[in-house]
Amino acid sequence: MEPLDRHSIIRSSWDANAAAWAQVVREGSIPSRRAGTDAAILAACLQQRPRRVLDVGCGEGWLARALWTEGVEVVGVDCSAALIELARSAGGGTYFVTEYESLIHDSSIAPGPFDAIVCNYSLFSDPLSPLLAALAKRLSPQGRLLIQTVHPWMTAGAGPYECGWREESFADFAAVFPAAMPWYFRTLESWIGELRAAGLGLERCDEPLDPLTKWPLSIVMHCGLLADSTS
Ligand SMILES: C[S@@+](CC[C@H](N)C(=O)[O-])C[C@H]1O[C@@H](n2cnc3c(N)ncnc32)[C@H](O)[C@@H]1O
Repeated sequence: MEPLDRHSIIRSSWDANAAAWAQVVREGSIPSRRAGTDAAILAACLQQRPRRVLDVGCGEGWLARALWTEGVEVVGVDCSAALIELARSAGGGTYFVTEYESLIHDSSIAPGPFDAIVCNYSLFSDPLSPLLAALAKRLSPQGRLLIQTVHPWMTAGAGPYECGWREESFADFAAVFPAAMPWYFRTLESWIGELRAAGLGLERCDEPLDPLTKWPLSIVMHCGLLADSTS
């Protein structure tokens, strides 16, 4: 399958799954989110003491609302018109229907500078560096790109520790998701390589632990502009 096909399948899956996704997020029925990943990404954002945040792949907008409650100005973008409609109805930010591809090609969409740009479980494609570079250009000089994603060492169990396309069926979620979604499994080495290719460096990473199993729930990457990409 051509990568372009996968990109459009990823986007269309989120319109098909919008209602189910909003249900599981708003009912708090995703165990890892309850156990710590929501708190981890919110804390990572607030540590930045941001005035303006861009929420990339904001979904139904829970994180934008949580930041807005803390007095932060938030712009949320997502390709799913259905999810953006749900976010707008719930308030707490300014939301736009936008595909990542548009952010890459049109710097007038969601223009910076942002003190923090956050991608919470919203990066599924390959390559990522064109999008990451477009986000880097929207960061203020001291701004940070914050990425929370599945922990590569935990997720590798479903296959080899090698980059490659996999499929999420959403079978473990407490709602019926009509569409499966292709997603690109990425090793830590690959994450760091994509960041570097985009002029970003990994400054810090958090590994929030499941309080019961003491295994990582996710990885949160704090990324800053590399010195030679700010000139
Ligand atoms: C797993 S959801 C996460 C939503 C939200 N960040 C959260 O924490 O609940 C992934 C989101 O990324 C968005 N997304 C995925 N690929 C996209 C693309 N190419 N352009 C814009 N949005 C995209 C989806 O529409 C979906 O809302």
